[in-house]
Amino acid sequence: MISKSIQSCREAIYRDLQQCRRGTFKLFADIDCDTFCRLAHPDFSPVGWHLGHIAYTEDLWLLQRCAGLKPVFPEYHQLFAADVLPKKQRVFLPQLPEVKLYLDAVRKKVLDYLEVAPIEEQERLWRFIIQHESQHCETVAFVLQMQEKQGRRDRDLDADTRINCPQGGRRQREERILMPDCPVWPMPDAPCPIPNSEIEIPGGEFYMGSDAAEALDNERSRHLCYLEAYAIDRYPVTCGQYRDFMASGGYQNPDWWSVEGWKWLKVHLVDRPLYWSENPAFNNHPVCGVSWYEAEAYCNFAGKRLPSEAEWEKAASWDAANQTNRTYPWGEAPPNASLCNHGNNLANTSPVDAFPKGASAIGCCDMLGNVWEWTASTFDAYPGFESYPYKGYSQVYFDGEHRVLKGGSWATFPQAMRSSFRNWYYPGVRQIIAGFRCAK
Ligand code: AVJ
Ligand code: FE
Repeated sequence: MISKSIQSCREAIYRDLQQCRRGTFKLFADIDCDTFCRLAHPDFSPVGWHLGHIAYTEDLWLLQRCAGLKPVFPEYHQLFAADVLPKKQRVFLPQLPEVKLYLDAVRKKVLDYLEVAPIEEQERLWRFIIQHESQHCETVAFVLQMQEKQGRRDRDLDADTRINCPQGGRRQREERILMPDCPVWPMPDAPCPIPNSEIEIPGGEFYMGSDAAEALDNERSRHLCYLEAYAIDRYPVTCGQYRDFMASGGYQNPDWWSVEGWKWLKVHLVDRPLYWSENPAFNNHPVCGVSWYEAEAYCNFAGKRLPSEAEWEKAASWDAANQTNRTYPWGEAPPNASLCNHGNNLANTSPVDAFPKGASAIGCCDMLGNVWEWTASTFDAYPGFESYPYKGYSQVYFDGEHRVLKGGSWATFPQAMRSSFRNWYYPGVRQIIAGFRCAK
């Protein structure tokens, strides 16, 4: 009996490792070397660096720390470790085929080790490694989207990023531009707006966090949490709703902004979300590419506020009729293409009402997938927190500055999606695939 469950755990890990890796290679399928090496933004490493770092991390934790093997390619330590080179020096990369060889060499040994590893003691670490890859792939997806947005014309290649590009960095991704910056002609009709009703959640307790094998350190431990009654929107804020804020001079009126937020705006001087499109066909899609400050200002404009992460999680996971938590809003079945927009299935946002089967027990839609949702909460430890597998994973970010995001986006891999999952960024970041929903 015991050996049978160990065997099925091994098989599940094998499936998830390989499924995740197929998703990773799909992201890199049509990438040229300029796109691979380019520093699209000073805060985000080139996509090729993320690919090498995925193999490096797998080698470090599974092969070196667990199996006691020597590094597969020790010369890559300097380049692909998380804490050695500053991001702007991560542009000097081997070509994609070489980095792929690195991933394949590490993976071959990992699969050999998986057959003999004491999986009952190590399941948590293997689950961490799969989610580590998933999360770097999400960063790759939005860095590629930023590069598409930046376009080619104004991409006057600098010496730094073309040094490893003998062909001069020809890009083959033009056909994938999804969000035109200029209105398309003729302009399509605006779809009928989706009414974004409020859902009342009665006061009471629910379980927050998770102790499951896949739960990361910051999700632990599961604990009872009492919340007063509140209301939360059925859907994330749509582009159509956000357009009202913009058209009412939202970016020009300090009344809606906090002191911090207005200060941020005066430095960054933006007047629309980063991934904004004037095309009204997007009116029922969630707004995407906003900082926490823009989300806060919109909420003030609408007479609402951001939900705390507890309020968000209760609306996503609490099944009041059965007094239990669901792993996913819809229940226990893992994410698939008919439940939510994830895993680069659509490689873009979708209308907020497109996945009625994915609704939570209380009726909130689009809780997982489509866009991450900013919450009011700063990223903090839950009771009983212990860092795992290293302090730098979560603990160093408990600094009172980072804000929690929930739910995952169109780019999030299924292994990193569940109602208890917590993501975090500084409130000024708008490159991530993030929108928000309102509470009251
Ligand atoms: C949780 C997404 C903010 O990508 O910086 C990856 C995850 N930590 N490698 C990040 C992470 C170490 C992290 N985020
Ligand atoms: Fe990492």
